[in-house]
Amino acid sequence: MTTLTPVLSKHWDQADSFALETYRRNGGYEALRKALRMAPDDIVEMVKASGLRGRGGAGFPTGMKWGFLPKDNPNPRYLVVNADESEPGTCKDIPLMLANPQVLIEGVIIASYAINCNQAFIYVRGEVLHVVRRLQHAVAEARAAGLIGENILGSGFDLDIVVHTGAGAYICGEETALLDSLEGYRGQPRLKPPFPAVAGLYASPTVVNNVESIASVPGIVAEGAEWFSGMGTEKSKGFGFFSLSGHVVRPGQYEAPLGITLRELLDMAGGIRPGHRLKFWTPGGSSTPIFTDEHLDVPLDFESVGAAGSMLGTRALQIFDETTCVVRATLRWIEFYAHESCGKCTPCREGNYWMVQVLDRLEHGKGTEADLDKLLDICDNLLGRSFCALGDGAASPVMSSIKYFREEYIEHFTGGGCPFDPARATLWA
Ligand code: NAI
Ligand code: SF4
Repeated sequence: MTTLTPVLSKHWDQADSFALETYRRNGGYEALRKALRMAPDDIVEMVKASGLRGRGGAGFPTGMKWGFLPKDNPNPRYLVVNADESEPGTCKDIPLMLANPQVLIEGVIIASYAINCNQAFIYVRGEVLHVVRRLQHAVAEARAAGLIGENILGSGFDLDIVVHTGAGAYICGEETALLDSLEGYRGQPRLKPPFPAVAGLYASPTVVNNVESIASVPGIVAEGAEWFSGMGTEKSKGFGFFSLSGHVVRPGQYEAPLGITLRELLDMAGGIRPGHRLKFWTPGGSSTPIFTDEHLDVPLDFESVGAAGSMLGTRALQIFDETTCVVRATLRWIEFYAHESCGKCTPCREGNYWMVQVLDRLEHGKGTEADLDKLLDICDNLLGRSFCALGDGAASPVMSSIKYFREEYIEHFTGGGCPFDPARATLWA
């Protein structure tokens, strides 16, 4: 039986857990003192050895990304924390920044020192004003304590951190659109390669990392690479947040080793709400193909989830019981993607628009079986043919819901409407 590993969330229940004083009382900033006594390259090697993989969804090895910065480029280097968390169902970075912004700031300072950068940015969603204010307050507290600025803790290392707010576009969570937005342009993805490590912010070498990835760094420096790599699975090391939402008794953040299963998480979360049963769920937000009750025992690590036909993504476990219409849920997700598509490439701009039309008529009992083929055809034109991951993500819920619930789609047009519509009420009886 896997047990929880509260590390980042360990002190969330303390009053003023966000304050610098509380963080220091709990051992905060000791990792920074240790890091500043180490050679920067040794920290990069330590993070590589820990096996930490990007917690923003893609799972790219963090230390390897840091190691990609070209040594011969004379431009300044930048660290940009992607705090633009927007994936439907994803709700881990925002509570982390609210409850313990100092662990993120300590991670930013250590990471900046390791990659030899003197200017870092935290790009945060503009809508979450309370988080923006908390971060600004935390940066001010750290600056006043000499943890940000010139000659940090007498080390000779200088760093400034700017908290920058986005304007509420999902696409600005895509790292290159984020960089465009940070530079003051309309946020649209750039062609990759070159990756930001080579030509990122102001065409300079830039590391873009997720909040949870950077917040994991102080623990690795303090406890050692083996401590971190001793948790998790062979290729998916360490721990992470699993965010349970929807039809569970106790939704929330469960910090656990990678490889835990939904069955184990549901046991901890009190199970599906009483009198109901699991119907479908997302392992990592709506951009990852849905799973069903067949997948309760799939270890939630990058490899196992991939082998079972989905992606670990952001570990946003949205749980739906048997009262949920899968067609309606999929329509809702695709409305989101259609709204958030930046419009740069045709497959995504047009494909999402048309998928909304087709799903809408299916949901309202006006579709035909040919519409299912049409949806799959549109997905075929999105998957691997869109300019960025948003297009691929939009195809995921459509393809997987048809794969597992084709009969339910058919029931909508053979039965004259949504079977979950109380007016029809066939499944409610
Ligand atoms: P990606 O696989 O293209 O890249 C991952 C990271 O590795 C990037 O930082 C990229 O620059 C770097 N990288 C990859 N190959 C590289 C190379 N050869 N050299 C240097 N750097 C390299 O994935 P992407 O598009 O960044 O992210 C997609 C994921 O984002 C999805 O899997 C999804 O789960 C997640 N996502 C998360 C959201 C959130 O709210 N946290 C929102 C939407 C999607
Ligand atoms: Fe924009 Fe969508 Fe194309 Fe990405 S896939 S570049 S969001 S239109």
